[in-house]
Amino acid sequence: MAVETATIYDDEIVKKFAIMSVVWGIVGMLVGVIAAAQLAFPVLNFDIPYLTFGRIRPLHTNAVIFAFGGSVLFAAMYYSVQRTCRVRLFSDALSNFTFWGWQLIIVLAAVTLPLGITGGKEYAELEWPIDILIAIVWVALGINFFGTLWKRKENHIYVGNWFFMAMIITTAVLHIFNSMALPVSFFKSYSAYAGLQDAMVQWWYGHNAVGFILTAGFLGIMYYFLPKQAQRPIYSYRLSILHFWTLIFLYIWAGPHHLLYTTLPDWTQTLGMTFSIMLLVPSWGGMVNGLMTLKGAWDKLRTDPILKFMVVAISFYGMSTFEGPMMAIRTVNALSHYTDWGIGHVHSGALGWVAMISIGALYYMIPRVFGKTEMHSTSLINAHFWMSTIGVVVYIVAMWISGIMQGLMWKAVNADGSLTYTFAESVAAMHPYYVMRLIGGFIFFSGMLVMAYNLIMTARTAERRVA
Ligand code: HEM
Ligand code: HEM
Repeated sequence: MAVETATIYDDEIVKKFAIMSVVWGIVGMLVGVIAAAQLAFPVLNFDIPYLTFGRIRPLHTNAVIFAFGGSVLFAAMYYSVQRTCRVRLFSDALSNFTFWGWQLIIVLAAVTLPLGITGGKEYAELEWPIDILIAIVWVALGINFFGTLWKRKENHIYVGNWFFMAMIITTAVLHIFNSMALPVSFFKSYSAYAGLQDAMVQWWYGHNAVGFILTAGFLGIMYYFLPKQAQRPIYSYRLSILHFWTLIFLYIWAGPHHLLYTTLPDWTQTLGMTFSIMLLVPSWGGMVNGLMTLKGAWDKLRTDPILKFMVVAISFYGMSTFEGPMMAIRTVNALSHYTDWGIGHVHSGALGWVAMISIGALYYMIPRVFGKTEMHSTSLINAHFWMSTIGVVVYIVAMWISGIMQGLMWKAVNADGSLTYTFAESVAAMHPYYVMRLIGGFIFFSGMLVMAYNLIMTARTAERRVA
């Protein structure tokens, strides 16, 4: 059976993306650790423009979201769509084109961002020639993915593929419209939109990049890899369909919650807030569906660290999708906006949910695409699990405390109406929590090094898969 699948499916491409996921995970998180260190100890900016926080920060976000997260998504999509459709990928040439194209985009980002070449839109910083390249590679992915679905030998399209389809289509639309710009040179362009429209298009993009890449894409991963690892069918297929349609319908309207208390018309802000609150329902439906898949098999959690990664990831998905709707309420946002609470929310989603479900799926795929029975060391996976869990908890607790403290300090007023604290006092008060975040981030990052070691040893030494 294993020999047969090896000849039918293209696992080489999955292997390449899986290896690069680990590489970019390490690079992106290392840059995150450096950014965290700079916030705690500003001297680490060294007064060198290429290394200052302002340039390192977008390098971090691009590396973790698009290089690490993107490579994981490619690996997981290519692995699961072949198996759920029972055919090889549509085109080997397109698969390789997407691999080399995506890696080229990452390298171009890694060169241009430290040089300060940027369009200045968050999560869409790359300049117009790279934007065009992204659109081409993404369309190639779309043709390859939909082509595979087209030639499938399985009647049914599994729900995981629906999430991937939504991600591919929506991301193409978001990227193309948000990146519309007037180039003035090869390295500089200006947004095609002005003022408030620009802000709204940007956050329509930004929020849905979260909704359709960091959420829908990784839910596609959950729906395939969780049942596989747990060796149980998904708890409720009906719930998963409901999860899918409600999630994609609601997400697309919620962007204005990033622009509360701005000049955006009030009704638009209220619309964004309302849809954000409604988003709690499908999000928790999805979380329950994931967790209940383990019904009757909870004992597996004692011995299976890969499943532990997945279950903790789903719990963080539930937690961040509870926190998000709360932060979208105007009065709560009045406290949380501009503070580290936002950074805590981002990383409970990004580290707790995105990175941990990715790591679980990578541990599932790696031995299989290397033709081995299992990972080199289960105890190292277990060690990695604890490093990730402790790391993310330390990170987000630090940010919750510092975020709420910031918000309260900025709002505090004396009896005569003057501000109780100066801004500099609030910055000084953050210091211990920035050190704490640095420690948490460093622990999480070190776990990735353990993973890299385990991957190398698996490739080199573990037994070949038999039959
Ligand atoms: C070792 C792990 C990580 C560390 C130490 C880290 C650290 C940081 C730091 C210091 C910032 C800047 C915060 C600020 O401006 O106040 C940041 C921002 C950000 N990080 Fe991370 N990060 C890590 C992992 C990740 C991962 C895996 C993702 C995504 C999958 C991610 C996504 C983001 C995003 C989206 C922002 C921007 C947040 C915003 O603008 O509100 N990070 N990170
Ligand atoms: C029901 C789901 C969610 C809702 C309603 C929601 C809502 C929010 C709100 C209100 C903010 C703060 C906006 C501001 O004050 O500027 C925010 C920021 C953010 N959220 Fe969420 N969130 C959700 C889930 C998630 C998840 C699962 C992730 C990550 C995987 C995530 C990633 C982010 C990022 C990256 C930002 C920072 C954007 C920026 O300012 O740069 N969110 N979210």
